[in-house]
Amino acid sequence: MSENFAHSYTMRTHTCGELTIANVGNEVKLTGWVARRRDHGGLIFVDLRDREGLTQCTFDPDHAGEAFATAERIRPEWVVLVTGVVQARPDDTANSNMPTGEIEVIVSSIDVLNSSVTPPFAIEDGIETDELTRLRWRYLDIRRPELFKALSLRNTVAQSFRRSLDKRGFLEVETPILTKSTPEGARDFIVPSRLNPGKFYALPQSPQLFKQLLMVGGLERYYQIARCFRDEDLRADRQPEFTQVDIEMSFVTQDDVMQMMEDVFEEVLLAVGVSHEFPLPRITYAESMARFGNDRPDVRFGMELVDLSQIVKDCGFKVFAGALSNGGVVKAINAKGAGDWSRGEIDKLGQIAMDSGAKGMAWIAFTSAGDVKSPITKFFSEEEFAAMREALTVEPGDLVMFAADAVGVANNVLSNLRLHMAEALGLSREGHALMWVTDFPMFKYDEEEKRYAAEHNPFMRIADADLDKIEDAPLECGSFSYDLIMDGYEIGGGTIRIDNAEVQMRVLRRLGFTEEQAKEQFGFLLEALSFGAPPHGGIALGLDRVIMLLGGYQSIRDVIAFPKTSSGGDPMTGAPEGVSLRQLKEAGLRVD
Ligand code: AMO
Ligand code: AMP
Repeated sequence: MSENFAHSYTMRTHTCGELTIANVGNEVKLTGWVARRRDHGGLIFVDLRDREGLTQCTFDPDHAGEAFATAERIRPEWVVLVTGVVQARPDDTANSNMPTGEIEVIVSSIDVLNSSVTPPFAIEDGIETDELTRLRWRYLDIRRPELFKALSLRNTVAQSFRRSLDKRGFLEVETPILTKSTPEGARDFIVPSRLNPGKFYALPQSPQLFKQLLMVGGLERYYQIARCFRDEDLRADRQPEFTQVDIEMSFVTQDDVMQMMEDVFEEVLLAVGVSHEFPLPRITYAESMARFGNDRPDVRFGMELVDLSQIVKDCGFKVFAGALSNGGVVKAINAKGAGDWSRGEIDKLGQIAMDSGAKGMAWIAFTSAGDVKSPITKFFSEEEFAAMREALTVEPGDLVMFAADAVGVANNVLSNLRLHMAEALGLSREGHALMWVTDFPMFKYDEEEKRYAAEHNPFMRIADADLDKIEDAPLECGSFSYDLIMDGYEIGGGTIRIDNAEVQMRVLRRLGFTEEQAKEQFGFLLEALSFGAPPHGGIALGLDRVIMLLGGYQSIRDVIAFPKTSSGGDPMTGAPEGVSLRQLKEAGLRVD
């Protein structure tokens, strides 16, 4: 925190967080909000608050004169300027929990700078006011020390990224907000153009295309703390507008980008007092899916997925045999400590499995008394049962949960159960775990739309050996790609880019664009790539998520000054709002 900036103002001599026993005898001026006022018959105590802390100001009718009368009428959240002399508090009233707890200011005069109506919630930490109310009066919420702390952490992290990147020769460049669609797999927010009726700008889902064009422009090292806009369903870790630390480099390999990111991130972590071991572990996408069922594993606890397909391939259980004969898998997790759970509790887990896409959830409970409870044990031979026990390292007290399905469904079901069980069993998830997940497939098949889609975005470079597969075996195309994972969240992602116009066109065609549509949408990129694009690649970190995790917050809303609710609204300003007929007409729009 900045030191003693109060001295540079004429209005006050100190902040409310800095006076100590060393200041006893000083005449001081403090400004701030009335946090609390206690009337002790003879004396009135006012806790004065600014962003740096609280100071007790004492009004004694003998010394304060007119100021005492003012102190009798001031109320919480009034803004005041007090002048007085610092005095040590009597021993029995000193408060060692607050930095200014050993002193008080004996007030000689007070100016009321502004009054306040009664606030809708108390301006202090630990309040239980619902979030909607806090967002409705967000500026009052921000007056609370908790929010100041979050925004201050955000500032420290952002500044430290800037310092580290600047030091390494990265240029901060702003890219347009009113632009053309930059797809990252979400819907675009669109903005009508008054000067071009019937035409729209799209807000960028990321600065992706522009940072690539900056590389074609010879900039070599770019970064931006960039606002991105994605119209997608919101969750605790997703906002419709969020911030990326966006980076791009030329003449680099995948390892160069990852190394740079580790170096920068290590410095950022140290700036907030977190030390983590580097270099970071790396696993491939395929390994992550196999072991954890998702591509952003929380590796701070075990309970990994075990593939039992080989062991149960000849068993008599129709559900398992059926899944395998349909090309699926039988996988399971072992939740240690849940073996004595009741039937009712296990049924609830079954519901979680079904909500994740399972048709059911077979299970075997190994009670701590040594019994085996399960609806399916009868279907297995002794050898099969023993092999399963061994593969899952079963002990008394364990609960094994199965998913027999297409591999994607089984992974999703067990991944959700694994996270649920970690929470339910209170497994320790202390500290931070950072790692890379690499080698994402280039394409995925979108079952709903019956077409291929890009796993990340359409611009990532395909492994040279896989170029032939774009047309014939797209799902087998590998890519130069890497996601940075922290504590089970994807905090960043990047790729080496396609730097060849012809390959870029083939990828776009594979994604269902006709040549004409590709040129219409991405002609400027294809053209740029034909003018000698350097090999280039980069990464973007989700700044909000990084800060949420570093500060131990539950949601990125806690680290954004003015966030949106889960329905995308801002209860304070009322956005989004209807517009006047005139505005619609000017934009060339009609609304039903
Ligand atoms: P990607 O789409 O993976 O990559 O985004 C990078 C990081 O941004 C964060 N993020 C979000 N944070 C909050 N709310 C959201 N709605 C949201 N969406 C994404 C995540 C994510 O890891 N152009 C590429 C980067 C590149 O290839 O260089 C991109 O945008 O933490
Ligand atoms: P059923 O024979 O359909 O009564 O199923 C027997 C057990 O297998 C029940 O506990 C079901 O919940 C479970 N089950 C059904 N389908 C699956 C599946 N695809 N994967 C795992 N377990 C399943």
